[in-house]
Amino acid sequence: MREVRELIDLLVERHTLSLGQYEELVGSYTPELAEYAAKRAVAARRVVYGDDVFIRGLIEISSYCRNDCLYCGLRRSNQSAERYRLSPETILACCERGYELGFRTFVLQGGEDAALADTLLCKIVSAIKAAHPDCAVTLSLGERTRASYQALFDAGADRYLLRHETADHAHYARLHPSELTLEHRLTCLRDLLEIGYQVGCGFMVGSPGQTASTLAKDLKLVEELRPAMCGIGPFVPHHATPFAGEPAGSVALTCYLLSLLRLIEPSLLLPATTALGTLDEHGRERGMLAGANVVMPNLSPMDVRKKYELYDNKAHAGSEAAEGLAELRRSMGEIGCRVVVDRGDVRRR
Ligand code: 5AD
Repeated sequence: MREVRELIDLLVERHTLSLGQYEELVGSYTPELAEYAAKRAVAARRVVYGDDVFIRGLIEISSYCRNDCLYCGLRRSNQSAERYRLSPETILACCERGYELGFRTFVLQGGEDAALADTLLCKIVSAIKAAHPDCAVTLSLGERTRASYQALFDAGADRYLLRHETADHAHYARLHPSELTLEHRLTCLRDLLEIGYQVGCGFMVGSPGQTASTLAKDLKLVEELRPAMCGIGPFVPHHATPFAGEPAGSVALTCYLLSLLRLIEPSLLLPATTALGTLDEHGRERGMLAGANVVMPNLSPMDVRKKYELYDNKAHAGSEAAEGLAELRRSMGEIGCRVVVDRGDVRRR
């Protein structure tokens, strides 16, 4: 225990550990160790961001997806999923409403939908930027060509979220069909960084086949890639996927990993994700107390929210919803955090 704590102290000091040391830290999880990591992580977050919580309005623009990821309810093999695509007018109306509620970042997220062509998306992005020049636009639309990423950046997109899902090649192959590779995912992430986006990677916690060794690689990847953001959340099974009977990931382990990520990079934008809130009604507060500083309430039109079903029982009501912002402000206030009206850009050291 003593020696493991010293690894945390080392991380606080140097922001780097070896793969073996990360593996030991992950494998040595105990509630006490996590509490120690959380204390150090919250202190590190305070230095960069104070107690500010940044909010992002999440707009789920399409549930069509060409991919067949084994964990995801939107996989193309799921015939029972209801598919929808929002019109540009609807997306702009969501932003309008979000702006009034106090959002200064809009996240357009969707499956890999061939109908979301560059021309259409560029029009949507530039229309949002024209209507709300003080806002950031984040895209989360999966793997695209470098030319596409460049065109969207030139149209005004500020940030791009593309979770790497796992930094271990064999584990990646267990979670995805053979046409998807970690190698290509990493090429996309590097392209996005080179173009100039604030980039977010990320991974699920407790996905089938995950070990302390694969998680150590995830932590090392974040250390080396130096993304602006990292989204992590527990795996939650979806009934119409091959992983239907698998157990859900651990909220406690997710929070511990949030703390380690904060210590690797104190300026990281770290969301307490919807999956955390889905498995634990206090999941988001627990995430904040472990060192997170972002929440992404759902701004999608009410009638599509249940159709964007990545996993079973995905939360979209209460403080997960944009309408629940008052409740979110209250619950964050109770743990000493403050929801701010701000773009919430990364503050690099
Ligand atoms: N459980 C938890 N997270 C999931 N995602 C997809 N399916 C699941 C699931 N079953 C996450 C993936 C993806 C993000 C949009 O949602 O990490 O990148």
